[in-house]
Amino acid sequence: MTPLADDIDRGTPASGAERTVSLVIDGTRVDVPEGTSIMRAASVAGFQVPKLCATDSLKSFGSCRLCLVEIDGRAGTPASCTTPVAQGMVVRTQTERLKKLRRGVMELYISDHPLDCLTCAANGDCELQDMAGAVGLRDVRYGYNGDNHLADTKDESNPYFTYDPAKCIVCSRCVRACEEVQGTFALTIGGRGFESRVAASADVPFLESECVSCGACVQACPTATLIEKTVIETGTPERSIQTTCGYCGVGCTFNAEMRGDELVRMTPSKSGQANSGHSCIKGRFAWGYAQHKDRILKPMIRASIDDPWQEVTWEDAIAHAASEFKRIQAKYGRTSVGGITSSRCTNEETYIVQKMVRAAFGNNNVDTCARVCHSPTGYGLRTTFGTSAGTQDFVSVEKADVIVVIGANPTDGHPVFASRMKKRLREGARLIVIDPRRIDLVHMPHVDADYHLALRPGTNVAVLTAMAHVIVTEGLANEAFIRDRCEADAYEEWKAFVADPSRSPEATETATGVPAASVRGAARLYARPGNSAIFYGLGVTEHSQGTTAVMAIANLAMVTGNIGREGVGVNPLRGQNNVQGSCDMGSFPHELSGYRHISDAPTRALFEAAWGVHLDAEPGLRIPNMLDAAVDGHFKGLYVQGEDIAQSDPDTKHVVGGLKAMECVVVQDLFLNETANYAHIFLPGSTFLEKDGTFTNAERRIQRVRKTMAPKNGYEDWEITLKLSEALGYPMNYSHPSEVMDEIARLTPTFAGVTFEKLDELGSVQWPCNDAAPEGTPVMHRATFARGKGLFVLTEYVATDEKVGPRFPLLLTTGRILSQYNVGAQTRRTANSLWHQEDRLEIHPHDAEQRGIADGNWVKLASRAGATTLRALITDRVAPGVVYTTFHHPDTQANVVTSDYSDWATNCPEYKVTAVQVTPSNGPTDWQVEYGRHSEKSRHVRHAEAVPAE
Ligand code: SF4
Ligand code: SF4
Ligand code: SF4
Ligand code: FES
Repeated sequence: MTPLADDIDRGTPASGAERTVSLVIDGTRVDVPEGTSIMRAASVAGFQVPKLCATDSLKSFGSCRLCLVEIDGRAGTPASCTTPVAQGMVVRTQTERLKKLRRGVMELYISDHPLDCLTCAANGDCELQDMAGAVGLRDVRYGYNGDNHLADTKDESNPYFTYDPAKCIVCSRCVRACEEVQGTFALTIGGRGFESRVAASADVPFLESECVSCGACVQACPTATLIEKTVIETGTPERSIQTTCGYCGVGCTFNAEMRGDELVRMTPSKSGQANSGHSCIKGRFAWGYAQHKDRILKPMIRASIDDPWQEVTWEDAIAHAASEFKRIQAKYGRTSVGGITSSRCTNEETYIVQKMVRAAFGNNNVDTCARVCHSPTGYGLRTTFGTSAGTQDFVSVEKADVIVVIGANPTDGHPVFASRMKKRLREGARLIVIDPRRIDLVHMPHVDADYHLALRPGTNVAVLTAMAHVIVTEGLANEAFIRDRCEADAYEEWKAFVADPSRSPEATETATGVPAASVRGAARLYARPGNSAIFYGLGVTEHSQGTTAVMAIANLAMVTGNIGREGVGVNPLRGQNNVQGSCDMGSFPHELSGYRHISDAPTRALFEAAWGVHLDAEPGLRIPNMLDAAVDGHFKGLYVQGEDIAQSDPDTKHVVGGLKAMECVVVQDLFLNETANYAHIFLPGSTFLEKDGTFTNAERRIQRVRKTMAPKNGYEDWEITLKLSEALGYPMNYSHPSEVMDEIARLTPTFAGVTFEKLDELGSVQWPCNDAAPEGTPVMHRATFARGKGLFVLTEYVATDEKVGPRFPLLLTTGRILSQYNVGAQTRRTANSLWHQEDRLEIHPHDAEQRGIADGNWVKLASRAGATTLRALITDRVAPGVVYTTFHHPDTQANVVTSDYSDWATNCPEYKVTAVQVTPSNGPTDWQVEYGRHSEKSRHVRHAEAVPAE
């Protein structure tokens, strides 16, 4: 396999010390930072000391005794992995005595290890095998007649990896990886001496244990004991291509390890700047959907949504789509069509879609799925700070003293970042969780929140403003920072506003449900000297006051001076892999790339000159407005790339009504998703493994996506849009996505310094990246805010119109689960479904008992918008009066229930608050039955050839 820079394992982690020391190893002088181990120093000097229990992603442990060295002036043979360097030290790593000792150690290991190297799945990729060679072991004197573990039973319960105890050398790397890297503490070494064995939880099969299948233990294992099943089935990989995970906004870097053109496994890259060698179950293991038999590979058309699909050639599909859009525009006008970009596609693909809408359709009717998640972040942070993005890099959390998590569930939604955060919490950082539900972070191994403010859904603004009240009235504001960095008049006005007794924790306690003392305690903790950082998610944005809550968070950061350095800041945790990028690329109807308003004449002139077209100065329609206009008969054609609005957008009946009213819906996706049920043209999409481009993660980090195999559908997504644009009469001439990025850089000041070459050289850059910051900007607003002075904004709490009452007495809120992703189109087509086969309704025991509902019963979940059914999960993770569900399975139809209330500034739907009633039920509603029947019918494909199943 082609070695990557990050394949070099130096045995122990790097020391962060600034002072260096000099020593001599095997006659060579080496200078390394103080605190470095002798093993690492030797590796830096080019000498590899044999090792088994050491690896540079874990703290040294010193159990295998293979790495012994001799040090002048010291007795014995200390382990080089646990012995730090010292000034003037003279070390020998290869003496006859050491060689003999190491061979003796290896002999003992091998005497209890099956001699099946030639047929072992890890043959050629096994550290035990390598070390046996490195120490020159030629024979084993002890024989195999004594006690051994060779007949121990394999644990194959996990669908992605096996545990074969016969091959285990009890080095504890797996246990330590689970603790130090992942922070789950699922593994232990059970038994003593010869009986010592790795055990998951209380010695149960892996699948039944607390294991979350992050793969860290598999990655750490030096033998074939823990090994990916795909390696067993396919063989060891031959080459590796570095790329970026296609799932969430953490943006983990992976090595796609290939055998021929077949993907064998995805392993997290140590050089990945967002993940530092860690992964979660989705990116590490759940990539099999790319080969799933449901994937559609040929374009299809149909005259009406009640007809079966008919496969056609790419030429026919593109020509038909273009002629339909032209026909509709000729009949209903230029603004009767539009497009939706995808937060799952690359920056380059997103940019091209919005360009096609503006230049080929000739209007600004383009929007993106960020509309339904983080559009309030854009509006709120731009208003207060001047830039629509998070302020920090992920690694910054390692310097935080107080961490606030509000409306986010990082261990499920952003697991690799959560592991980094948990590590900091185990080191002693304090934690405030603001969430209606008791998320895992509130109480987990070695992590306990100082405060869990279990507020009533919809009251974020009241709680955040009450925290500001405490800070201002108790003299905890950082007046020096405010004087220096913020607009004075706005601050004075805001200060008086929050100080009003009506905004105190005591006055708002009834509305929020949070004891005033807890709000006061949390505010004092957040405002204390040191570094406090806020991380938030859709539990903040998806509200009628989503934008207000984002601004309330920004106010808190400014009033305490927690902005502009490492360890602090305001950090939105973005859901989809490229939701930041899709917003950056000009996907909103009112903005061109880099968040420049379409009404700004000089910006428009720049794009008009580059694109050779006239641009409308008026913003186009947002997704909900497109659907409204469709229902009203004015909007007739839609191009949707990689987005499933029929499942992910609120008020499904309204969405379906809008789609049904259109004359041409073009869906470009991997699978026939729910939106495709209402489409007339289906263009097969490509996976992230099949394309080149870039994604931008939640920390504004632009990273390369690299093609690992040819697109199974024939084209990368950007090529398909190019064909459509050309057929519409607006050809765009790019031969590679790097040329699209070059254009983005020419036209977008915050991207001016971004090129594919630079990304290849540096690994990634965080925008702004331009002459002022040629290598990017990890921490924003250091000396001044992007808008100059920070702006405090008044955040009046206005209760949502979605109110509980006798008919709908409970509040429904929604969220995600670790093993599934978004609407589940990808993860449901992998073994991840073993962990989550259906969406369940979490309900408090008190509410369940009142309604005669037992755990696992079918229940009807009804709101003013509609009703659905699902099974109940009785738990006190939710407070009485609150119910919760996920939305990963289309048959749940959770969004049939959600209302069409939305954020006042951005139209982001109020997913997180719906007044509902829950009653016992016998099974699916009529609507679910009808919807399911329609889905089945329209999925019927004539002559479609499926990709062979894995
Ligand atoms: S399973 Fe692997 S990493 Fe864990 S103790 Fe055994 S050999 Fe070491
Ligand atoms: S897969 Fe992850 S969570 Fe599971 S045992 Fe291994 S390290 Fe722990
Ligand atoms: S944390 Fe997100 S980016 Fe990282 S592997 Fe998991 S899904 Fe992929
Ligand atoms: S590598 Fe040092 S004791 Fe195992």
